[in-house]
Amino acid sequence: MTALFATYNRFELTVAEASGTVVKDTDGKEYLDFGSGIGVCNLGHRHPDVQQAIEEQLNKYWHVSNLYHVPLQEEVAELLTANSAGDYVFFCNSGAEANEAAIKLARKASGKTKIITFQQSFHGRTFATMAATGQDKVQQGFGPMLEAFDYVPFNDIEAVKKKIDGETAAVMLEVIQGEGGVIAAEPTFVKELEQLCAEHDILLIIDEIQTGIGRTGAPFAYQHYAISPDIITTAKGLGNGLPVGAMIAKAKFYDDFGPGSHATTFGGNPLAMAAAKAVLQHVFDPAFLQTVEEKSIYLKERLQEEIGETRFVTNIKGKGLMIGIECEKEVTGLIPQLMQQGLLVLNASPYVIRLLPPLTVSKEEIDAAATLIGEAIKKPVTT
Ligand SMILES: Cc1ncc(COP(=O)(O)O)c(C=O)c1O
Repeated sequence: MTALFATYNRFELTVAEASGTVVKDTDGKEYLDFGSGIGVCNLGHRHPDVQQAIEEQLNKYWHVSNLYHVPLQEEVAELLTANSAGDYVFFCNSGAEANEAAIKLARKASGKTKIITFQQSFHGRTFATMAATGQDKVQQGFGPMLEAFDYVPFNDIEAVKKKIDGETAAVMLEVIQGEGGVIAAEPTFVKELEQLCAEHDILLIIDEIQTGIGRTGAPFAYQHYAISPDIITTAKGLGNGLPVGAMIAKAKFYDDFGPGSHATTFGGNPLAMAAAKAVLQHVFDPAFLQTVEEKSIYLKERLQEEIGETRFVTNIKGKGLMIGIECEKEVTGLIPQLMQQGLLVLNASPYVIRLLPPLTVSKEEIDAAATLIGEAIKKPVTT
């Protein structure tokens, strides 16, 4: 019996407690969490610095309206802008809300209405971000969609050129498509896209909701491509489990988001900001980001050893600790099988096992996960 809408296909797992990479269920069974929520607990569950920051804030106050000053918002905004191409931040509560803010800002700033997005992209479930998402299954039953979005094949610059017209306000891109299958944009494509946007006075919005906050070994994944986006959106890892999102934009848009233009009751909540400040102080440290790169190399090597030669696996891909294991057949049966063996992983598209372990994952945990994945893939799928 449940009074919940059945919007989620839930696995048979109820978490009782969690710490670091380890999650314990209500029967006391332990799992290695190589999904981190879905790329949320980038510093692992209940990271001590983040926990302390939240506890300190809990003892001061939990909420103040955005009618008043919230100094922690200033500090987190400072950290985000010092480590990205943006100059000003709007805080909200989720990834979809960050993209909503980006869509609204792009339309207001440009005076134009259309936004180009990509096939297999994922930008959220609100009415505008659902329409921005280039996947039919997300939109089914909710039509007609907002007509302001044009979808083009990923990595296809000619297709983008063909879609641009006098009403194109922006292009919105995930530099590594997460839900779509851990598919990285080609460096030449991203560079050409930036140039194209500049030539046509079109805003470049990079959706870093899954790829941001150190996930790929840089503060934001677009930084691997040496571009300077107009708008960056982020969420998931920013609060390490407390709900928070942010839209970061260049100074030239300051006047477009003036008083009364956009708002949220909970955005920039002090508890979420306390968590985000502790997260960013930790994750944006270059020495820490270097360890993400080292762990990425090690995880890929171990996966290569375990499953690289199997016919089932066609590619091991991804950047930093956002890894996709592309398979010849559907992987949906493997996910519960791995869960039974004590490893939580995600899928991305039906053919890709997605690993988003905490950035704090240890070498021993990587070894254990690689061994379990090897065992599961080498044995026949049972469902
Ligand atoms: C790239 C990307 N954009 C947007 C979203 C939506 O974020 P939220 O679920 O916090 O609204 C997600 C969530 O998976 C995502 O991966």
